[in-house]
Amino acid sequence: MGTSDNEGRRTTSYPLLKGQKALVTGANSGIGRATAIGLGRVGADVVVNYVAGREAAEEVVREIEGFGVRAYAHEADVSQEDQVTGMISRMVDEFGTIDVLVANAGLQRDAAATEMTLAQWQKVLDVNLTGQFLCAREAAKEFMRRGVVPEVSCAAGKIICMSSVHQIIPWAGHVNYAASKGGVLMMMQTLAQELAPHRIRVNAVAPGAIRTPINRSAWESAEAEADLLRLIPYNRVGDPEDIATAVAALASDLFDYVVGATLYVDGGMTLFPGFETGG
Ligand code: BGC
Repeated sequence: MGTSDNEGRRTTSYPLLKGQKALVTGANSGIGRATAIGLGRVGADVVVNYVAGREAAEEVVREIEGFGVRAYAHEADVSQEDQVTGMISRMVDEFGTIDVLVANAGLQRDAAATEMTLAQWQKVLDVNLTGQFLCAREAAKEFMRRGVVPEVSCAAGKIICMSSVHQIIPWAGHVNYAASKGGVLMMMQTLAQELAPHRIRVNAVAPGAIRTPINRSAWESAEAEADLLRLIPYNRVGDPEDIATAVAALASDLFDYVVGATLYVDGGMTLFPGFETGG
């Protein structure tokens, strides 16, 4: 049964991912937090990864446990290989396996290109791109070891890369971030091609402007929000739950034939909004 929130938007409450084991990286805040909770709501047991902010991660765990599923918080920096292998092997110990990886952890270190330090460039590439690769690689190994378990899912495993509209929209002042997300697009498609014969589905969700701490300055004041809305034909800033429901659907068997796709969840931000009136 589907239900609606108080603004009339659909919220999913049926057990789409019943019995599946999910890992969400960067799950103590923003999109990751909502996604971890959203997967728990539809029946998954969830590992809540975080790198800093243990309290917040524990709160997410408690919220997920409220749905009658299992969850625990795991501290790991996704850009560190040994921490990623440790995180997946603990998950296999505690939950038996992994069925769904949401490679979500990401950050911004904004600067004009001529002012950008190598450290700012490197940090963003390390977390947003290398971090997703390391998590995907370790999850894929476990998917291939286990293979398909038909009572659980048609696929041996699902990887959802959290990308961004900036995988295709250039973004001045954010060259490190845009380059990392452009990299995520080609990494995701290549992994999808390589892993599909093993019945592993790799896809991406590309959020537009979502109300989270990462872009607070873009929606915090009425003036900033009005500016932002000019870029969004659907005329509202997204909520983290908009992304959570998209991830849950994409990870479920309802989307079993979707491989290597990017689902843009952006209120139309990628539709060249300037052309509404121009051109
Ligand atoms: C960025 C946000 C930005 C949005 C739309 C996201 O990927 O992290 O800061 O508001 O793209 O531009």
